[in-house]
Amino acid sequence: MATPSVTPDQVLAALRPIVDPDFGKSIVDLGFVKHLTIDGARVAFDIELTTPACPVKAEFEKAAKERVAALPGVAEVAVTMTANTRGRTSGGAAQPQGEILPGVRNVLAVASGKGGVGKSTVAVNLAIALRETGARVGLLDADVYGPSLPLLTGVTGRPETYERRILPNEGYGLKLMSMGFFVTEGSPVIWRGPMVHGLIRQFLTDVEWGELDYLVVDLPPGTGDAALTLTQQAPLSGAVIVTTANDLSLIDARKGLAMFEKVNVPVLGIVENMSYFVPPDLPPDLPERRYYIFGQGGGERVAKELGVEFLGEVPIDSRVVEGGDAGKPILVYAPDSPPAVVLREIAGRLARKLAVLGESAPPIADANITWVSS
Ligand SMILES: Nc1ncnc2c1ncn2[C@@H]1O[C@H](COP(=O)(O)OP(=O)(O)OP(=O)(O)O)[C@@H](O)[C@H]1O
Ligand SMILES: [Mg+2]
Repeated sequence: MATPSVTPDQVLAALRPIVDPDFGKSIVDLGFVKHLTIDGARVAFDIELTTPACPVKAEFEKAAKERVAALPGVAEVAVTMTANTRGRTSGGAAQPQGEILPGVRNVLAVASGKGGVGKSTVAVNLAIALRETGARVGLLDADVYGPSLPLLTGVTGRPETYERRILPNEGYGLKLMSMGFFVTEGSPVIWRGPMVHGLIRQFLTDVEWGELDYLVVDLPPGTGDAALTLTQQAPLSGAVIVTTANDLSLIDARKGLAMFEKVNVPVLGIVENMSYFVPPDLPPDLPERRYYIFGQGGGERVAKELGVEFLGEVPIDSRVVEGGDAGKPILVYAPDSPPAVVLREIAGRLARKLAVLGESAPPIADANITWVSS
């Protein structure tokens, strides 16, 4: 008589101790285990993560394989890691859900209380970092007065239209939209208030964004009219505030937070940019020396005071400027440089926060269990 094969319950019980640290729950109870197939001594299943940017992907895969392989009656285990980005594009928008950006799962606003703190740089690199994980990502430069996306990405040219829809440009695997694609370089961009509203609305409704896991929005600087319009019109899932460590910038970061609170958009955290400088000519055998040019810990202090997460310190690095000027964001220009490494970490943290904010997981009944007992 052949040994009885393992049961789905036994497999799920073996997987249950694997806990997702972001949700604090078992991957089984979260409904991550899908397409479980038991064919005699062969067991196969998918683990569907809530974001491709999951930092514990490899650990999950290994633990799942080992645990199931240890069950009596199992000779072979095949685990497929997949991702289905959870989303919550509701925010505080007054719009009926689904009408604006219907195919976009998460809209992440990158804001700053004041200009020049590196908001656009952070936005572009976060978008690329998310894209690197395999997610489908768009980047909207909503700064209609000072669009910087063409310069930062090297992508130019008037977007094409198809059946009265505007097709975004593409670069670095991202869908890109910016007022800068429509104006010629050097000509000043002068929009009056009502025009700004209209333009932003068009970017949200007339651009063919298609299916995206993340749309990163580089907001206009400050808390003025243009920024406010966007927070009211776009179904923002969450916002991140970029600041530098000096007091003036920090005061403005507080204003930024207040703006999002007013429209019920969760602030996912604060990024401190140009935090410190590491002399590149230090001998490699010396411990890294960090110079905190604008003072240390300001961003972290403000984050604590405002009750939001501090997402990280991005160091000041001349390669950010060089790359930016050459249309090559730091993640591409110097992928292993300290700012690139930190920005990638921040992107991962944001993706997980968005996943947790997203809709609750489908029940286990969804798991599509196929049990071929032979
Ligand atoms: N970490 C960094 N290290 C060095 N330079 C940086 C860093 N971050 C940004 N910069 C540089 O600072 C300048 C301003 O950055 P950026 O354009 O991203 O700021 P911004 O907040 O979007 O500005 P604006 O308010 O004009 O839209 C750019 O020249 C950019 O290359
Ligand atoms: Mg900018």
